[in-house]
Amino acid sequence: MPIRIADAVTEAAPQGAKRLFVKSYGCQMNVYDGIRLADLMKPHGYALVEEVEGADLVVLNTCHIREKADDKLFSDLGRFKKAAPQAILAVGGCTGQALGAKIFQQESAVKIVFGPQTIQRLPTLLEKALRGQRAIDTDFPELEKFDRLPTPGAYGASAFVTIQEGCDKFCTYCVVPYTRGAEISRPHGDIVAEVQALAAQGVKEITLLGQNVNAYQHEGVGLATLCQLVGAVPGIARVRFTTSHPNNTTPDLIAAFAPVEQGGNPKLMPYFHLPVQAGSDTVLARMNRNHTVASYLETIAAVRAVRPDVAISGDFIVGFPGETEEEFQQTLAVAAHVGYVGAYSFAYSPRPGTPAAELPDQVDEVTKKTRLAALQAVLDAGTAAFCERFVGQTLEVLVEGPAKDAGQLRGRSPHNLPVNFTYGAADPVALVGQLVPVTIRRSTQRSLVGKME
Ligand code: SAH
Ligand code: SF4
Ligand code: F3S
Repeated sequence: MPIRIADAVTEAAPQGAKRLFVKSYGCQMNVYDGIRLADLMKPHGYALVEEVEGADLVVLNTCHIREKADDKLFSDLGRFKKAAPQAILAVGGCTGQALGAKIFQQESAVKIVFGPQTIQRLPTLLEKALRGQRAIDTDFPELEKFDRLPTPGAYGASAFVTIQEGCDKFCTYCVVPYTRGAEISRPHGDIVAEVQALAAQGVKEITLLGQNVNAYQHEGVGLATLCQLVGAVPGIARVRFTTSHPNNTTPDLIAAFAPVEQGGNPKLMPYFHLPVQAGSDTVLARMNRNHTVASYLETIAAVRAVRPDVAISGDFIVGFPGETEEEFQQTLAVAAHVGYVGAYSFAYSPRPGTPAAELPDQVDEVTKKTRLAALQAVLDAGTAAFCERFVGQTLEVLVEGPAKDAGQLRGRSPHNLPVNFTYGAADPVALVGQLVPVTIRRSTQRSLVGKME
């Protein structure tokens, strides 16, 4: 799950405005929801602030994917209630959905609980809480939140747009089908309108989001066509999407990665996030992934056949119940074979209510940690090798802002690699949000360093 915050602008709170602090955990869909939530509360007199101290409303936009994510929520709640004792504390997101009213029992300071599909109802919940009552809403009203949410506020050069939510796949380890509900796609007209509004504010790069983004389907429009519609919006120079599922990767989507002369989409960036989770068919079967290692590798090969330099990223779980050393070695082999630009790898975390949590032969924590380290070493080698290939090339970089080092800017390459670069005598302020040519002088473990031409 590549986390990249669209640069939502936190403006200085105007005189008299109430202060809203939002912390988003987990995937980019939560980041998107967090930004929309801040936009939603603006007309109600709430301005987004960066520090929790002195906040009037604190929203924890939570993730339930692994046990660690829940632990973080409760430790943060303890911290935030001390830092902002007068604030109304609200828990939204996937843990809100999964635990519901149990959160009130676990932390009595919490006054509001809601889920990912009910963020638009926060103002009503807040009214109730301000009257001193506990307020909870964990319904699944399909797409209501997109209808009710206002047009996005100020962003940087790059923005996320959620186009699909939920999951019908029920992998045996995963809570998402329960926390986000069934797969549902937003109308393509609404998505294009949202992208037009973002482009009007200077956004040049759109990342389309979904738990199974390539399952997108609305009135005959699939993801490949949607990428064309979004790429055709004036001002939009780059289109990306994440996260894809191997079983929803259609030939037209693969064809979209081809060079423009071969009918590809010139706005679609050469980056494809396609999680595999494990490198053995036996583990994949126990995970209920409904695909094999061979079918996954065939998909990767098909994308590379039309776009040889495409950056492939993925997700892995090690230590799934019953995983043998031999099965784990097969995962290492797949990681080495694919040569990922980067991948997210996790130790399996048993989640209450999921079938895998009940399986026998749970792998011990030490073995999980050892396997995770071994996998990460293979993945890191792949990342460094992928970065290195760009040394000496001139790449188009979308400038995001100042780099940590003085005299440098940072941005993203077409393959989504971070690029830090010097800019000579140019005005750095004018370059932010622009696409500029940068010649790469060296690479680091996971980024590029260069000089603007
Ligand atoms: N829909 C996407 C992934 C969404 S969840 C897909 O199927 O690819 C993001 C990632 O979290 C998953 O890809 C998986 O690698 C990881 N994950 C999910 N449940 C997990 C669990 N119980 N323990 C460890 N990692 C988990
Ligand atoms: Fe979870 Fe599997 Fe759905 Fe991905 S496809 S969200 S891992 S159930
Ligand atoms: Fe976490 Fe929910 Fe995203 S569980 S990964 S925030 S869909």
